[in-house]
Amino acid sequence: MKIQKQQIQKRSKKTAIILPIALLCILFILFIVGFVSLQPVLTKFTEYTAGQSSAGQRNQYGLAVPVRSPYEDEAWFSDPLGLLLVVDRNTALSADYEPLDLVNLESHGVKTRHAHLQGRIVAIYDLLSMFEEAKKDSHFFYVFSSYRSYETQKETYNYWVQQLGKAEADRSSARPGHSEHQLGTTFDMSATDYKGDVFDGFDKSPAGIWLAENAWKYGFVMSYPENSEAITGYIHEPWHFRYVGRGCSKVIFELGVIPSVFIRELDVYRKSKQEEETPAHADSKLKVLGRLP
Ligand code: DAL
Ligand code: ZN
Repeated sequence: MKIQKQQIQKRSKKTAIILPIALLCILFILFIVGFVSLQPVLTKFTEYTAGQSSAGQRNQYGLAVPVRSPYEDEAWFSDPLGLLLVVDRNTALSADYEPLDLVNLESHGVKTRHAHLQGRIVAIYDLLSMFEEAKKDSHFFYVFSSYRSYETQKETYNYWVQQLGKAEADRSSARPGHSEHQLGTTFDMSATDYKGDVFDGFDKSPAGIWLAENAWKYGFVMSYPENSEAITGYIHEPWHFRYVGRGCSKVIFELGVIPSVFIRELDVYRKSKQEEETPAHADSKLKVLGRLP
């Protein structure tokens, strides 16, 4: 009886030692598996945040703030960050398309009308730079709408259908999947120095004019310019800007084209640029100029 009792005590001692060790091993394995599967996401996040931040560049919330524009150089041409996806009346994003690098705008120093607004971190540096520069001209911009998921866009569109009827809603609200807001790089903006209703007369106001003239310098394009409804399908929206990066916005500005058309035809532009760089093209150009025998 006594021996049995001792054996039971020994066994429970063993269990008391083995159990925590086994638990620790399981936790360790779970940690390794979790780390390995999260690695691609972490790498992407590092590229977007730490890669663009330098030591000490943190905002008041201690979050890393990007300190450079991602598409300043020729990188935009191959669009490694997916800023140039086609989203328009005819082409939709899938219902589950959601950018990986969404962040809270206010936490990253961007002034907004609603504290919950989110956007892709790749656009933050240029958004902040633009808003800072505008302050020098006494314009204090803020974002009043930004990332909208497929579901949120569905609610938004249905709300406008109820308010305006389908035909009229379709002129100013995109159907779910068709909104550039689902990209996380599109921002509706107004300014505290603009006292009117942003949907009425913003384009004629000093703040609206500043935005229309300067946004391209910071990588933003006005998606729905004046007199382009027949092409874009939407009324003029002087508050709605899509981030495409500085390299691309400069070309769109210089060519004077409608952003969505340029993005749709991007491959044609890429091809023509590549051809321009071939020696045969250079030769024919010189021939035209009469510089070759
Ligand atoms: N207002 C624009 C067209 C949108 O809903 O995305
Ligand atoms: Zn918008």
